Amino acid sequence: MRILLSGMLGHMGKEVVNLLESGFRGMELAAGVDASVKSIKDDKANEVVNNTCSDKNDEIAANACTDRSSRKASDVCTNQASQASSSACAKKDSHAVIIGNVNCYAEFSQVPVKELGIDCIVDFSHHAATKDLTDFAVANRLPLVLATTGQTDEELAMIHAASKEIPLFFAANYSVGIAILIELAKKTAALMPDAEVEIVEMHHDRKLDAPSGTALAIARGVSSVRNNAPITTGRSGLGKRTKEEIGVQAVRMGNIVGIHEVLIGTNNQTITLKHEAHSRALFAEGALAAADFMAGKAPGLYDMTHMVSMK
Ligand SMILES: NC(=O)c1ccc[n+]([C@@H]2O[C@H](COP(=O)([O-])OP(=O)(O)OC[C@H]3O[C@@H](n4cnc5c(N)ncnc54)[C@H](O)[C@@H]3O)[C@@H](O)[C@H]2O)c1
Repeated sequence: MRILLSGMLGHMGKEVVNLLESGFRGMELAAGVDASVKSIKDDKANEVVNNTCSDKNDEIAANACTDRSSRKASDVCTNQASQASSSACAKKDSHAVIIGNVNCYAEFSQVPVKELGIDCIVDFSHHAATKDLTDFAVANRLPLVLATTGQTDEELAMIHAASKEIPLFFAANYSVGIAILIELAKKTAALMPDAEVEIVEMHHDRKLDAPSGTALAIARGVSSVRNNAPITTGRSGLGKRTKEEIGVQAVRMGNIVGIHEVLIGTNNQTITLKHEAHSRALFAEGALAAADFMAGKAPGLYDMTHMVSMK
């Protein structure tokens, strides 16, 4: 499967590139799109290409190279770049910069879809790209995995409209492990209707919100199989817990990336379900797994529950 990666030069874009480079499920990076390509090209137009990293964009781009052997600034080639430095790169295209061995374009309209044999788009960019992204995906009948967050109501309407034409995967959290944890917690809570449920989440000391959105999503999942049982966040002072409430507790400490534990127990036994995140790369892993899942799917709106469904 050949992927067009939107937001290729961002933090998550780099994680996706790294995974594809490591051979994830035999997938390949066909090309990228990133708004910052324009500034790289503008800078390059005023510069004789040399072998040093001359600005932040070059540094970002060089870090995102897909070919480790060519990770140097001279491989961020524009049309003005030297032929020598581009010899190991993708076919030259006046609209693109060459990063590693693929073209990265500033806009979707510049991407030669057929020529590149693109099978699916994976997007980790900015919600302002929603219109261009969905218009492009629909016009080219390409499945779309949309991981960008923060869409306005108008942009969400565009996503829903596009999903009537193409298979569109849209999730606020692409952690496959968390999606499975929620399913397991729901299943366990339903199979043990007498058990009390407590969720404990742990994150680094810089996190502002508590409890985490993920812990609340787990709690809502459990509540949905327990007759909409109430969710209690935090516990202090006097007062016994009610049998039915779902407790959510937050711990903040050091550099913990993210731990979620679901304790489901009676007086006589406890099941503990635990997920531990090691790095943000897990979202890249989930988005590529979603792209894989989308192969051959009919138009529609898909999310993590479809991918990890246990029915
Ligand atoms: N759903 C999830 O599980 C999940 C996980 C992590 C991040 N995200 C989301 O992914 C997005 C990207 O995160 P990040 O940390 O990589 O951000 P980032 O700022 O590091 O990268 C975003 C990239 O998108 C590019 N960009 C901006 N506007 C664009 C446009 N109109 N068209 C194409 N490219 C454009 C930027 O130049 C940049 O390189 C954010 O919305 C973030 O919230 C979602």
